[in-house]
Amino acid sequence: MRPRPEPIEIEIGSLAERGVGVGHADDGTLVRVRAGAPGSRVRVAPGKRRRGVAESIKLATIRPAPGFAEPACPQFGRCGGCALQELGLPAQRAAKAGLVASVLGDLAGVVTHPIRGGTSAYGYRNKLELGFGGRQWLAEADRHLPNEGRFLGFHAPGRFDRVVDAPVCALAGPRMSAALTAVRAVALDPAAPVPWDPREHTGFWRHLVLRESESGLLAGLVTAPAGESEAPWARRVLDALDAVADGAVWMENAGVADVARGVVRERRGVPNLVARLGGVAFRLSLESFFQTNAQGAEILISTVREALGTASGTLVDLYCGVGTFSLTLGPGFDRVVGIEEVPAAIDDARANALEAGLVAEFTVGRVEDLLGQIPADAVLVVDPPRAGLHPRVAAALAVQSAPVLVYVACNPAALARDRAVLEAGGWRATDLWTVDLFPQTGHVEAVMRFARDPS
Ligand SMILES: C[S@@+](CC[C@H](N)C(=O)[O-])C[C@H]1O[C@@H](n2cnc3c(N)ncnc32)[C@H](O)[C@@H]1O
Repeated sequence: MRPRPEPIEIEIGSLAERGVGVGHADDGTLVRVRAGAPGSRVRVAPGKRRRGVAESIKLATIRPAPGFAEPACPQFGRCGGCALQELGLPAQRAAKAGLVASVLGDLAGVVTHPIRGGTSAYGYRNKLELGFGGRQWLAEADRHLPNEGRFLGFHAPGRFDRVVDAPVCALAGPRMSAALTAVRAVALDPAAPVPWDPREHTGFWRHLVLRESESGLLAGLVTAPAGESEAPWARRVLDALDAVADGAVWMENAGVADVARGVVRERRGVPNLVARLGGVAFRLSLESFFQTNAQGAEILISTVREALGTASGTLVDLYCGVGTFSLTLGPGFDRVVGIEEVPAAIDDARANALEAGLVAEFTVGRVEDLLGQIPADAVLVVDPPRAGLHPRVAAALAVQSAPVLVYVACNPAALARDRAVLEAGGWRATDLWTVDLFPQTGHVEAVMRFARDPS
């Protein structure tokens, strides 16, 4: 066996995507290190060098970054979710703004607005999706602990079969934390059935989904199909949730795909929540996509409103989810059209429109299959998933004759790619906003406004 390379020390110069810090080794190798805070000096175990880049593991912080903050979460360093906790909010935001600007490249002629964000550094998430597992992910320093057992937490970065056990999550509020504790007390009991094993496709407990709004808390328990001895254990979890949740659903997933969905076996309490955003009441089911930071979402909505300016006529909201943008921004338009592929989200969008007394046309389907439904002169808001626009969608939007297109991106690299296609079609980026929707994590939202190039 080849000996492990000696640890090295590096200065972290900047932030890359997903909370990865970037620096250089003495020999010029680009070193990428998860949770490496820009401005800090760290000791890392260098990974294999591929094309001049070494993905490496942080072993210790030698000198904290300016703007250092003490991580609030006991799982920091193990859990992939909140890699930026060693920076205070202002330093996190400066690093995120720098990341977006560098990914988008040429910003000459584009008005770049200062980064925006809410004030809650922790406890802001309104949804958690956790997985059960029989093998846990351990940090280098904890390797003496047993890695087999019963765990409930988040998937370790890049490891579908390892769970970072999470007795708490610093991004969850007190109600979700209470529900997590209640479920763990029953499901992780040594006498309970064992968690699902994604390699062997055996075991029982699969996922726990928690969603919260000002109207209450919903919980979703996903298991493998229950045998006679297992069903009472799932009901015990529902009993435990009765005390802390307003509604709970137990679903059975017989498939091998690692998805937190299944066939409903039993339901308790209310099936939906109501959340207010941008002055509109949204009905939410457990499955629908909904902005996970309500305070941040208000800022995102007002940013898109600012980007639309005085635009009028028909508004088309692509990848509309439960209608976040169509319903909050639609009242300024004559006609509102939303397209989204998840049927439950469209059911919610229609119910939300009805409840708010708004007229909007929502269609279920993939945007790339419904391009014919987009009027050529419609004002466009697009908020695609991480992959960005499907090539057919980018090509079709590039030749739209609308005056304004607002692109909301959770993945700035996808925006950079799609921007090139839009600009080749005659659009011109006029403004860039960055919104820090998810403090502590490497995620950042970029909003780019495009106008038709008059030349
Ligand atoms: C980033 S979310 C935006 C949701 C919504 N705009 C909001 O703010 O609540 C992306 C949405 O696109 C949907 N989606 C993903 N791929 C799609 C596709 N090919 N066609 C239509 N919708 C899609 C997802 O279900 C999800 O609701």
